[in-house]
Amino acid sequence: MATTRPRRKRAPWRDRQGRFSWFKTTALAGCVAPGALVAFWLATNDLGSRPTKAALLWIGLWTVRFLMIALAVTPAAQAFDWPKLALLRRMVGVTACVYGLTHLSLYVVDENFRVGLVASEILHRFYLTIGFVALVGLVALAVTSTDAMVRRMGRGWKRLHRFAYPIGVLALLHYCIQSKANVGGAVFLAGLFVWLMAWRALPVPWRRSLLVYPALAVVAAFATAWIEFAWYAVATGIDPWRVLAANETLRFGLRPAHWVGVVTLGIAVLVLGRRLLSRVRGVPRRVAVPVGTGRE
Ligand code: HEM
Repeated sequence: MATTRPRRKRAPWRDRQGRFSWFKTTALAGCVAPGALVAFWLATNDLGSRPTKAALLWIGLWTVRFLMIALAVTPAAQAFDWPKLALLRRMVGVTACVYGLTHLSLYVVDENFRVGLVASEILHRFYLTIGFVALVGLVALAVTSTDAMVRRMGRGWKRLHRFAYPIGVLALLHYCIQSKANVGGAVFLAGLFVWLMAWRALPVPWRRSLLVYPALAVVAAFATAWIEFAWYAVATGIDPWRVLAANETLRFGLRPAHWVGVVTLGIAVLVLGRRLLSRVRGVPRRVAVPVGTGRE
């Protein structure tokens, strides 16, 4: 007779051996926290005159953040030689999907449950159409993220999960378009996304090189400035050259390109620190994290 594994072993706070894991439990708490916080603000009437709209924006923001974090898990696991981190990829990816569905549900609530109107808006407004396509993609990735699906789909699984990158592009575009002339947050995330894509595009042995990380920081910071330039040139009446020139001074505070430079140079310093520490301690390199198997 076929034996069934006890359900508790699959709980997100347990490791693959079914043991309780503080590491995964802490990560799970981090995934739940933004949602719990907005639920608390809703319950205490702390979200202003349009609470549903405010919650919708907050959850949308965290959807795209969790998507970016999910894409960053494998690079971080390899760069910091910390394979355990890869245990979190599925959890963070599924979190992005759950937040995305909540974001859509809040939009339906904000439109007073007029589902027909919501469908027509999604069909007719470009930024909602691409948000919808991104969400369908997130759902497809989430439902195929189980061990059984990884086994069943074989090589197709990896091919499907490469769509996480185009989904990221659509999500960022959705964010940019709805931000109109205040695209700082969206451009900042777009710059980090460029860093992630550039890392993926590197030949695998190069990812071990310490020189690559400062170089990636420079590429990502310049790319951010040009993305911002392109956005203002194409989508607004604001002079894009003046926006670009604002990156040459700190008089207007830190621009998205500066922030991307700071964050990605910070990553370069942390990678250097981690490698030096391993060398001092004489710790041998751990087994490389398998990219895109979904089983880690
Ligand atoms: C059916 C799918 C979706 C619909 C109908 C939808 C709808 C909306 C709406 C109505 C807004 C507010 C626009 C305004 O202020 O006028 C918004 C904002 C936003 N959405 Fe979506 N969205 C969808 C999918 C997504 C997905 C998949 C993501 C991310 C992966 C996302 C991320 C965001 C972000 C980041 C914002 C802006 C938040 C802010 O300004 O703080 N959305 N969305």
